[in-house]
Amino acid sequence: NLYPNIAIDGPAGAGKSTVAKLVAKKLGYIYIDTGAMYRALTLQALRDGVDMHDPEALGRLAGVTPVSLRNGEDDRLRVFLNNEDVSEEIRGPEVSGNVSYVAMVPAVRRRMVELQKAMAEKGGVVMEGRDIGTVVLPDAPVKIFLTATTPVRAKRRRDELAVKGSIFSQEQMEEEIIRRDGIDSTREADPLTKAPDAEVIDSTFFTAEQVADMIIARVQPAG
Ligand code: C5P
Repeated sequence: NLYPNIAIDGPAGAGKSTVAKLVAKKLGYIYIDTGAMYRALTLQALRDGVDMHDPEALGRLAGVTPVSLRNGEDDRLRVFLNNEDVSEEIRGPEVSGNVSYVAMVPAVRRRMVELQKAMAEKGGVVMEGRDIGTVVLPDAPVKIFLTATTPVRAKRRRDELAVKGSIFSQEQMEEEIIRRDGIDSTREADPLTKAPDAEVIDSTFFTAEQVADMIIARVQPAG
């Protein structure tokens, strides 16, 4: 590929979205938020009243639910269920609280991974999630595993949600991300784990801008 793909994985609140968006913008690449796809499917399941602990029903839903990512105004990534823009709604606490149950279903993952692979076929994407370096783009030449301490990750999530008017305590938020990371890292299908050839970047003491530049340096080594 003329434009190599970039895979970014890591736990909740590590700064993946912010950093991936910056990298994409600076390189003129396409940004793909795979978590948004699992979130959109979760929203559909909640609307349909599907039992979050019924893998067969969730798998069936994944097969018939048109989830898509499109560019909106100002090049902002938007998430659609059919033709409905659900970009805001998928950030709510109900979706966040249930998405890990939907994402643990193998049939759901197969469907999403298939869509994600197709989106990266032509190269030039910055894709962010939990299994990108391990499953979706195992051949990506640049793989990053982004981390940060739990208090910092919880603080980032809190600030993000506060802007939208949802207030959580630090303690609540730490519990929530520890719970979600626990489910994501221990599930059987494509768990959150560092690819052997991924480089770990700890974003605790760096700005998103600094982390983005570190990643870009991997794509275009100086000299
Ligand atoms: O990145 P974000 O926090 O929006 O992801 C929401 C959830 O979607 C994760 O907690 C995880 O359960 C699931 N996910 C996944 N695989 C991905 C991306 C997200 O299982 N590649």
